Amino acid sequence: MTPKSFEILAGLLHAGSGLALGADKTYLLESRLAPVLRKHNIDTLDALAARLRPVGLGTMPGGIEQDVIEAMTTNESFFFRDDKPFQHFRAKALPQLLASRPPGAKLRIWSAAASTGQEAYSLAMILDASRAMLGGRSCEIVGTDISREALGRAQQGLYSQFEVQRGLPMQYLVKHFRKEGAQWRISDTLRGMVQFRSLNLLGDLRGLNQCDAVFCRNVLIYFDQPTKAKVLEAIAQQMSADGVLYLGGAETVLGITDVFTAQAGERGVYERSVPALRATPRQSALAETR
Ligand SMILES: C[S@@+](CC[C@H](N)C(=O)[O-])C[C@H]1O[C@@H](n2cnc3c(N)ncnc32)[C@H](O)[C@@H]1O
Repeated sequence: MTPKSFEILAGLLHAGSGLALGADKTYLLESRLAPVLRKHNIDTLDALAARLRPVGLGTMPGGIEQDVIEAMTTNESFFFRDDKPFQHFRAKALPQLLASRPPGAKLRIWSAAASTGQEAYSLAMILDASRAMLGGRSCEIVGTDISREALGRAQQGLYSQFEVQRGLPMQYLVKHFRKEGAQWRISDTLRGMVQFRSLNLLGDLRGLNQCDAVFCRNVLIYFDQPTKAKVLEAIAQQMSADGVLYLGGAETVLGITDVFTAQAGERGVYERSVPALRATPRQSALAETR
């Protein structure tokens, strides 16, 4: 592949999905884009690059450009991944969020890079097990991702034996899944608790309702610093003041943005920074006179 072709492909991926691809990752383009070449009957990556049109930042372009973007996403996920964030959500965040909301209120939870759905369904299992605690409050889980193929699988809720053996407690497998051939189908109850939608984190997030808990895990690692900051700041705008953000084990807000503050003693758990810290001097002065 010529340097020019690499530049075109890397530019498309950066604008289209935020993926920051180093020049040493040519092998990744070769392996992941092979199915796209086959699908569109194109012989080489140079010929593919010549076919690509530039995409607008954070758009969902469709066509061959979307195929390239999707093929380069890493969709690895599993139920209750890393366990700790789910334990924290169940034992700490959920009771706190519920305590400050009246009966009849709706709690909104967003799995912001939902991939094939395991994260959103893990949250649905926690909510199902916490029904007694909800006390008349309802919950909505939204799973979004840039990859329509991954979302298609999430919506189906059909998982292989290998997938249900990774992280899913046996009692949840028995309670929420039924065997379908060699695979496992998630129950209609859990499927009914989650809505999946395609959404680019680099695009306009304002179509989402305000969320009380956001799981944005194992996606920022693929972005460069300015993109991480932009995405985190846009997410903060979509969160309630007492909302909780969960990031992946290799991700942080430190040195990237000050819109979130790490929860003391909790790895990967963040809350929105105190609004007064970010208020304009005029707002702060007004607050002091109240
Ligand atoms: C490694 S998976 C993480 C899945 C899940 N959050 C977890 O931790 O198990 C990363 C996901 O981020 C999605 N993704 C990558 N760039 C994105 C973007 N710009 N907007 C939305 N989703 C994106 C990919 O399609 C992929 O499904």
